[in-house]
Amino acid sequence: MTLGILAAIHDEVDGLVAAMHHRDSRATVQTIGMREYHVGQLHGQPCVLVLARMGKVAASATTVTLIREFGVKEIVFTGLAGGIGPDTHVGDVVIADRTIQHDLDARPFFGRHEVPLLERAEFPADPALTRELETAAAGFLRLDLPTEVPRPVLERFGVASPSLHRGMIASGDQFIGSPDAVAELRERLPGLLAVEMEGAAVAQVCHEFGVPYAVMRTVSDRADDTAHVDFPAFLKDVASHYSSGILRRFLAARA
Ligand code: ADE
Repeated sequence: MTLGILAAIHDEVDGLVAAMHHRDSRATVQTIGMREYHVGQLHGQPCVLVLARMGKVAASATTVTLIREFGVKEIVFTGLAGGIGPDTHVGDVVIADRTIQHDLDARPFFGRHEVPLLERAEFPADPALTRELETAAAGFLRLDLPTEVPRPVLERFGVASPSLHRGMIASGDQFIGSPDAVAELRERLPGLLAVEMEGAAVAQVCHEFGVPYAVMRTVSDRADDTAHVDFPAFLKDVASHYSSGILRRFLAARA
């Protein structure tokens, strides 16, 4: 059963792409709609890896291609998020139990956040995929992170003993970087743990095609006025290890 794995930014997927081509000499690359789809085996599992690019449109288009052109039967999105919940700190991992588009507002035709004609605002993530990701992330944080990322690097970002969370992730076509925006989102979407720019779009397409999905995010910033500063350095020095490490465990456990 082929798994599609998407990310929005190069560093989030480069490690996985390199691992696929290093270990599977028959892996291929197909370019469709300005995306490169890497097709092969990863840690013993048939996978298609792709850099989706940022934003909901990019994620939706890529998800449709994964399903229609490559026949993937499950989809996982991996990447970064801004922490919104009071206890989601930089270096934590958030796994979605549901996703919502925080910038979708088709009132007065439909309710706030409701996806037109789908009669829903929230899209539940697949429980089995989500559990598998949780197990992989817990193992990574406990056993791999201390050896894969040097302690001084983690300390530079204030990462001491990162936690794993499961809950609501909201997506929108904007980088959230102000305390006011965070306060407004917390009030509008109680229980929200993290924001990013793609997950709920993938979720909508997966719902429309009947494909199970899961979203796993590393918290790179607190979505406040320091968010723009933290983001690129965290991505390069820390988060790239999370994506590769967690998915390595996730795939190995399925073999
Ligand atoms: N991805 C990582 N941090 C983010 C933020 N603050 N807003 C939106 N997407 C993000």
